[in-house]
Amino acid sequence: MKKHCPLLVIVLCVLYGFKDQIDPLFTVPQNFPKPVYDFKKNPLSEEKITLGRSLFYDPLLSRDETISCASCHLQNTAFTHIDHATSHGIDGRISNRNSPVLINLAWNKSFMWDGSVHHIDAQALAPIENPLEMDEKLSNVVNKLNKSKFYKKLFYKAYGDSLATGERTLKSISQFLLTLVSSNSKYDKVLRKEKGFEFNEYEQKGYKLFKANCAVCHTEPLFTNRNFENNGLQPDQYFKDGGRIKITKNKKDSLKFKVPTLRNIELSYPYMHDGRFKNLQMVLFHYTENIHKSSTLSPHLKKKINLSEQDKNNIIAFLKTLTDEEFTNNLNFSYPK
Ligand code: HEC
Ligand code: HEC
Repeated sequence: MKKHCPLLVIVLCVLYGFKDQIDPLFTVPQNFPKPVYDFKKNPLSEEKITLGRSLFYDPLLSRDETISCASCHLQNTAFTHIDHATSHGIDGRISNRNSPVLINLAWNKSFMWDGSVHHIDAQALAPIENPLEMDEKLSNVVNKLNKSKFYKKLFYKAYGDSLATGERTLKSISQFLLTLVSSNSKYDKVLRKEKGFEFNEYEQKGYKLFKANCAVCHTEPLFTNRNFENNGLQPDQYFKDGGRIKITKNKKDSLKFKVPTLRNIELSYPYMHDGRFKNLQMVLFHYTENIHKSSTLSPHLKKKINLSEQDKNNIIAFLKTLTDEEFTNNLNFSYPK
């Protein structure tokens, strides 16, 4: 026993040291890596999360008070919209991209399909000031908040005085966004060896095929390697969206987009940055039959992926194990009552 003591101390130190870096209100799922977000710079509190949640659901953030974050990011579809390919914003204006799911953002290294936003604390500014989305000025949002009795109370509870500022507004929205962790799908429960959870024959076969053909980019457990890749979509003639090149101006980044997570993918159709595919069958058809060859195509997709119809169905069966109903039904994330 004595012999093991120093080792035990080291293990405890490492565990506590690790825990210390993460926020006490933020639980890292057992099968997940360490988050990227530095919680020390914006320590979570129940009151700030509550404020952020109210802001997320409030159309006050838009110019004419008709559009909230939740207009394009709905909880029952893992915080995306499914009624159209690209987003609809203020005055019925149509943006050029599909809204991504909002899941496990504490692990994101960058935001948006092209990585144009580097930090989640700056993220909300983009839709608020985007003329196609909410078309408002942050300073004006702050004015509206400072006139509201309801928000005066919430800011007071969160920050000790009732003043709304741009920074407080953005950081509170971040706090709510950071709590949107999805880690209780069937997949997670099978991997954590929870009692009563096993893949069926199709899901198991699909998992194997997924690991062989998809996981280099859609890497477990987040189901993204968080890089920018060209996955061989036919370039769209309408938006002519070049993706990452818009940010870096580097030809090598032409047609590269951020690899999206596949968690809750069953719910978050249509698929891709422009919502071009209505269902997962079309996605699998793309990867097997329709890869567009170009100089920036990922080397992983240069060789044809051969999958039988049964193989494709098995992959889809596996993808459906990533649906997390505890997440989509979590009352902590829903419209505040
Ligand atoms: C009009 C629809 C619309 C509204 C309103 C909207 N979003 Fe989005 N959201 C999008 C679209 C589209 C993208 C992808 C944009 C891109 O890649 O250029 C996006 C991207 C994001 C991302 C990046 C996710 C990732 O994984 O990279 C976050 C976070 C986000 N939105 C949060 C918010 C918040 C917070 C609000 C409210 C302040 C909001 N959104 C309002 C449509 C919308
Ligand atoms: C070379 C990297 C790479 C490989 C390999 C890859 N993907 Fe993707 N995947 C991406 C990228 C990048 C996107 C986003 C592309 C876009 O919208 O422009 C994407 C998008 C998707 C989407 C749509 C997600 C959404 O939210 O719209 C699905 C579903 C998907 N991939 C499934 C798969 C499956 C299944 C396989 C294996 C057969 C696979 N991927 C292999 C990089 C990859």
